[in-house]
Amino acid sequence: MHVVLLGGSPSAPSTTWRLLQLVGERLAALGHRTVALQVRELPAQALLRAEFNDPAIVEAAALVAAADAVVVGTPVYKASYSGALKTFLDLLPQDGLAGKLVLPLATGGSQSHFLALDYGLRPVLASLGPRHILPSIYATSEQLPWDPEQGLAPHPAIAARLDAGVAQLAHELQQLQQLRLLQAVNGARAPVAA
Ligand SMILES: Cc1cc2nc3c(=O)[nH]c(=O)nc-3n(C[C@H](O)[C@H](O)[C@H](O)COP(=O)(O)O)c2cc1C
Repeated sequence: MHVVLLGGSPSAPSTTWRLLQLVGERLAALGHRTVALQVRELPAQALLRAEFNDPAIVEAAALVAAADAVVVGTPVYKASYSGALKTFLDLLPQDGLAGKLVLPLATGGSQSHFLALDYGLRPVLASLGPRHILPSIYATSEQLPWDPEQGLAPHPAIAARLDAGVAQLAHELQQLQQLRLLQAVNGARAPVAA
């Protein structure tokens, strides 16, 4: 199945992006095809001026449209998700997540704003009509130490949440794949009108 890793941090390097990459590696190991999409790499003017027809925006929106699941990652900025992520979500069609699974992730400087995903981002994602938004995963930068040689080494509590999140997403992707197969078989068997 096809999974988009949607990174909403304007920064590089980005703790959030590293977390998304870790999730992507786990999903790839389970046989899923992952595609990276970082909002910071899209043209800033097109994002800020809502230029829906900009070729890079059209291409990015098409990647999302083709996905079975989207893992959305954002840093917490001013007690909510990043403005960079919002500029891109605003350019998706109203049903831009229809039929898709969504796993929201966030990183923050402290635990103070761990609800930002649920009170801020989740309603926005829900408005785009996804099949299911999985439980959110929140980690502080301190819980996500990174070493150039070892890579990202999440603290045990976060590692456990990531394991559970990836397992649930993989399970639901499998169910979705079976449903699609069933629909394809039933569609092929449907009687042709005379
Ligand atoms: C402009 C700005 C605003 C921030 N606001 C908050 C905040 O309100 N709450 C919080 O917990 N962390 C806040 N942080 C810290 C970031 O969320 C945290 O460092 C995060 O891991 C950065 O992720 P990134 O490296 O992917 O950009 C803020 C950081 C910046 C640069």
